[in-house]
Amino acid sequence: MKIKTLIAGLLVGATLGVVAAQAADLAIVSGDTGTGLEFLRSQLDTFEKETGNKVTIVPMPSSTTDQFGQYKLWLAAGNSDIDVYQTDVIWAPQLADQFLDLSDAAKDVVKDHFPSIIESQTVNGKLVALPAFTDAPALYYRKDLLEKYGKSVPKTWAELAATAKEIQDAERAAGAADMQGFVFQGNSYEGLTCDALEWVKSFGGGQIVEPDGSISINNPQAIAALEAAKSWVGSIAPEGVLAYQEEESRGVWQLGNAVFMRNWPYAFQLGNGDDSAVKGKFDVAPLPAGEGEGARSAATLGGWNVAVSKYSKNPDEAVKLALFLSSTAVQKERAIKQSNLPTIVALYDDADIATAMPIIPRWKDVFLNAVPRPSAPTKVKYNEVSNLFWSAVHDTLSGTGTAAENLELLEAKLTELKGEAW
Ligand code: GLC
Repeated sequence: MKIKTLIAGLLVGATLGVVAAQAADLAIVSGDTGTGLEFLRSQLDTFEKETGNKVTIVPMPSSTTDQFGQYKLWLAAGNSDIDVYQTDVIWAPQLADQFLDLSDAAKDVVKDHFPSIIESQTVNGKLVALPAFTDAPALYYRKDLLEKYGKSVPKTWAELAATAKEIQDAERAAGAADMQGFVFQGNSYEGLTCDALEWVKSFGGGQIVEPDGSISINNPQAIAALEAAKSWVGSIAPEGVLAYQEEESRGVWQLGNAVFMRNWPYAFQLGNGDDSAVKGKFDVAPLPAGEGEGARSAATLGGWNVAVSKYSKNPDEAVKLALFLSSTAVQKERAIKQSNLPTIVALYDDADIATAMPIIPRWKDVFLNAVPRPSAPTKVKYNEVSNLFWSAVHDTLSGTGTAAENLELLEAKLTELKGEAW
């Protein structure tokens, strides 16, 4: 370092005191959608003011599957350009070795979070990531349309299909040519695993791989669930749903072109925005139940966390950023501005949140009863398990093989992948 620069640096350091002495340039990756990136930026601005650090956002595609693929490569290569990762709830066991243990840094705050969420981010005693928000989907429905046609909120998938068809057809006949009965996530990616796990579980068909590691997916209830979902494509859902992720479904819904939508709570706030055609016209309910023994409403557990790369050149400041992004203050803002579900227990009794985003206190029980994907029992193989599952479902929905054929094949592939043990 040139001596002049050194002196200048020391002078600045002396003026700003401790803050400047430890200031770092950090980078965080984020696949946030909607107004998510703007929200994150506003929080990072606060963090920068409080700590003197600078944080750059590296934007990523919104698909969790695409993000995972990229992060795995970066981490395997020891990439030190990214300090903090936003991580999906399912990744902890697969990426645990690449992140710092946050147990010590978070020892005073873990008690504020729901224990099950902390547990989901703990791998062999190592706290791999700190929770930023949790996720459990809703059935979004158009209050105005249900009222117009004298229908109630469907409690079963069969009721949903019948109501969706009736309203869709009547609205189209009345000139709303683009009206769809139901939109969801049918693309070949992790989102389809979430949707299809809900169908299967809601028909009493288990959770693909059970918590004890046994492969349960090839069963009559799971077959019935997938056949039901297949019957929606091209009747109450557009053929194009086979390429939809969350944002495509929300796009159709928010233009006022769907009676029902399956989506996560983030769509609540956006749907009530000033630019939304459905502002004030919709509400949310738990997803419908299937039929047969063991039928129930089922929601897949989602959620996002913050993890610190073990290749970060500024681990102390990066850990501070992770703590900040999972803090009560940021989670409260996030709940109010993004309608994301907090992981901090006390925030479910927060009056400001309840007023601004009534879905949040209502969704506490939904997420507490949500079904986890089998990422814990299948450990480092989860992504392959999920990929095989969503492919079998996508094939079924697009008419490549029946549900029975595809699930039999899936069982064989999963058995081979498992080998002696997961
Ligand atoms: C949401 C969930 C996440 C899930 C993803 C699937 O972002 O929070 O857990 O994997 O949707 O698309």
